[in-house]
Amino acid sequence: MSVCEFKPGLEGIPAAESSISCVDGQQGILEYRGIRIEELAQKSTFLETSYLLIWGKLPTKEELAEFVHEVQYHRRIKYRIRDMMKSFPESGHPMDALQASAAALGLFYSLRELDNPIYVRDSVVRLLATIPTMVAAFQLMRKGNDPVRPRDDLDYSANFLYMLHEREPDPLAARIFDVCLMLHAEHTMNASTFSARVTASTLTDPYAVVASAVGTLGGPLHGGANEEVIGMLEEIGSVENVRPYLESRLEKKAKIMGFGHRVYKVKDPRATILQNLAEQLFEKFGHDKYYDIAVEMERVVAEKLSHKGIYPNVDFYSGLVYRKLGIPTDLFTPIFAIARVAGWLAHWKEQLVQNRIFRPTQVYNGLHDVPYTAIEER
Ligand code: SDX
Repeated sequence: MSVCEFKPGLEGIPAAESSISCVDGQQGILEYRGIRIEELAQKSTFLETSYLLIWGKLPTKEELAEFVHEVQYHRRIKYRIRDMMKSFPESGHPMDALQASAAALGLFYSLRELDNPIYVRDSVVRLLATIPTMVAAFQLMRKGNDPVRPRDDLDYSANFLYMLHEREPDPLAARIFDVCLMLHAEHTMNASTFSARVTASTLTDPYAVVASAVGTLGGPLHGGANEEVIGMLEEIGSVENVRPYLESRLEKKAKIMGFGHRVYKVKDPRATILQNLAEQLFEKFGHDKYYDIAVEMERVVAEKLSHKGIYPNVDFYSGLVYRKLGIPTDLFTPIFAIARVAGWLAHWKEQLVQNRIFRPTQVYNGLHDVPYTAIEER
């Protein structure tokens, strides 16, 4: 008989000791390796932040230059991966394409040398470098185009937008996209990171770790919510319709996408930064009427649900930023994955240092000593 108390969703139960990131959900504070997210968003880049998360310290000028160069060098995908992706159904979701492609990458690097720092570094570099190329390649190939080759003169984010749109991005757009990646790079023991750590704990390869995390991120309660938010804003259609829409949803006890969080009981600090980035984009490239609907939603949801600590989370304003950058809605979650690869890899590396296979228990509530009934007697 079990003596453990069952906590649905493992709420409040630590699954690891970690020094990678920290969330204060009452005050709305997020830190990566002790540095506030607001400061990183202002001063860092996605690759520098990835280095910080994965290796635990800000890189020196030389270390960063070497890391950036390595990532740049590994951006191309193998033609056999590209050909495999070409055979994926165009109507399939890009998260499924990404999950399959990340796993397939492991076929080329099946020698697992988890104790070898060179293997660890190569895997980190390869995954950070190729995941954006895979996302862009699937986008072009499902439209019937050939993928474009990465451009070595463009940085990580500018190159991704270039591979996606087949033209060089505006510098402000590229910088804002890079900040979005930083904001999404890591977030303590969320569902996909937990999934990554469980997979890592079996000592499998990092490609399987990332593939399992991608699969977990895609659901609408997690990273997939950013796509649902845009669908919801389109369905609402006008500022006047916000209140009746929300009232009818809440009456049916439906969840409002992009709101609420297991840890934050105030507005997610990333949502505040993303809202600001959206405004910067609107100022330069023109307004989006869905932004007015979103702001009104935030106001009405606060009126109705603030007593439960329900405020916008990271997925609420990100879609409006990506829309303005000309990114199709079903790529929002793959872009979340491009960023979160940094966090997943940091947790993979940390898990290896203190590894013990995850093997929780359960509260069995089934029968015992049931006699087998012969088929003709059932
Ligand atoms: C991400 O964990 C992470 O860190 C994730 C993430 C990351 O960076 O990795 O931050 C990214 O996944 C953001 C979350 C994206 N998901 C959504 O936006 C989907 C909508 N939100 C929810 O379904 C919900 O808030 C969760 C999934 C985010 C959190 O779920 P919990 O902690 O299990 O909370 P719950 O569903 O048990 O709700 C608790 C109460 C309930 O009310 P009561 O029954 O107690 O009266 O809050 C209510 C819920 O009904 N509630 C909501 C709500 N979210 C919670 N009510 C209306 N709309 C919502 N969105």
